[in-house]
Amino acid sequence: MNPFQAPTGTRDVLAPESARFALLVARFSKRAHTAGYGLVISPMFEDAGVFNRSIGEQSEVVSKEMYEFEDKGGRRLALRPEGTASVVRAFVQHRPQIPWKAWYVTPAFRYERPQAGRYRQHHQLGVEVIGTEDPDLDVETIALLDGYLRDVGLRSLDLSVNSMGDPNCRPRYESLLVEFLARNSSLLCEEHGRIWSMNPLRVLDCKRTECVALRESAPRLRDSLCEPCARHFERVLAGLEALGIAYQRDDFLVRGFDYYTRTTFEITSGVLDSAQNAVGGGGRYDGLVERLGGPAMAGIGFGSGIERVLLAGEAEGLFDEHESPIAVFVVDVTGGGHARNLTHLLREEGIASDRAFDDRSMKAQLRQADRSGARIALIVGADEAERNVITVKMLRGAQSQHQEQISQEELVARLRELLS
Ligand code: HAM
Repeated sequence: MNPFQAPTGTRDVLAPESARFALLVARFSKRAHTAGYGLVISPMFEDAGVFNRSIGEQSEVVSKEMYEFEDKGGRRLALRPEGTASVVRAFVQHRPQIPWKAWYVTPAFRYERPQAGRYRQHHQLGVEVIGTEDPDLDVETIALLDGYLRDVGLRSLDLSVNSMGDPNCRPRYESLLVEFLARNSSLLCEEHGRIWSMNPLRVLDCKRTECVALRESAPRLRDSLCEPCARHFERVLAGLEALGIAYQRDDFLVRGFDYYTRTTFEITSGVLDSAQNAVGGGGRYDGLVERLGGPAMAGIGFGSGIERVLLAGEAEGLFDEHESPIAVFVVDVTGGGHARNLTHLLREEGIASDRAFDDRSMKAQLRQADRSGARIALIVGADEAERNVITVKMLRGAQSQHQEQISQEELVARLRELLS
């Protein structure tokens, strides 16, 4: 056994999986830029207060899962458990023009019980927009998440939406809920039976059978929404319909953080285990900028877990096991000089290529060429070197095993033809 392993709940991502990881980031970045979002890069750790104040001290993420520590200067810091709070902190600090449309890719750290699709370090792609309450923006962000997941190729997806109201109407709903839960607390699951009063909305989110059964008869937020919240939500739903984005309303989608107001949404994958099937989720947080010391200003965003999307993609059979970034593999049994020169030439021409080192035998180099996933092998043996030609051998595809000899002058043009 090695003395050191990656810490529990974390993973090393190696090729070829890392290529898929990078591909997701590229797809997301393209979508985000196309919709006018700029990349924001902010620190992986913050004053712990940034998260306490945003996500809420009572939330599971802060109270049980946050990696909090004191640095050598005695500052109370925390590794970011999610992206929103730090991005909003950055907004308050720099006050860019609004609406401020930012996208990010970041690791996030939560001390959770590790299982497939749930890690102590996971990675999120996300956006945050600050500076407008316009419900069309809710539609825009949902469409961005939906479009990205479709770009990746996922098919089995379900979008749920809800409105959580605002500080005008939610307190009224919460008191109705508290009355209801007080009357029925003996029917709650073991945990919520004890702690429901600390955060009554959390009960709606609970997946245990007792809570799920009870919530069916609980008062619903949709019946308590004030007129502006109801109108806002109507416009969001109408927007989704106008763009042809299928959704279902879920009265119990309250999500785990204190900062949410009005629209919340989540996309789940039908091919993942239901305990961790959310491939993305988000919502509005219209009071958060103020809570972190900025002006009263609305905001909305979402985060999507890269590992979850990769798991869903694998389960849907989206990834080709033979995909290779290498197009051409150079086999040189004359000492390696040709391999050195040819790979350099091809890379300068933008043709992905690799080679063997250490002067290995023809057989070993051909085996390596095959394993590399390259479509073409270029072979230089004593005979080729003497006649100043290169053998081009197709390793994969329709012309597999086809072989021809060409001069170095013809090489780049011929390879482009064969690879197109
Ligand atoms: P979240 O729902 O906690 O929201 O996380 C967003 C996504 O990250 C989830 O839908 C899931 O795909 C992934 N995820 C979360 N926890 C884990 C984990 N332990 N292991 C693997 N994947 C995970 C947020 O973080 C909010 N900041 C989203 C947001 C942005 N709301 C407004 N703006």
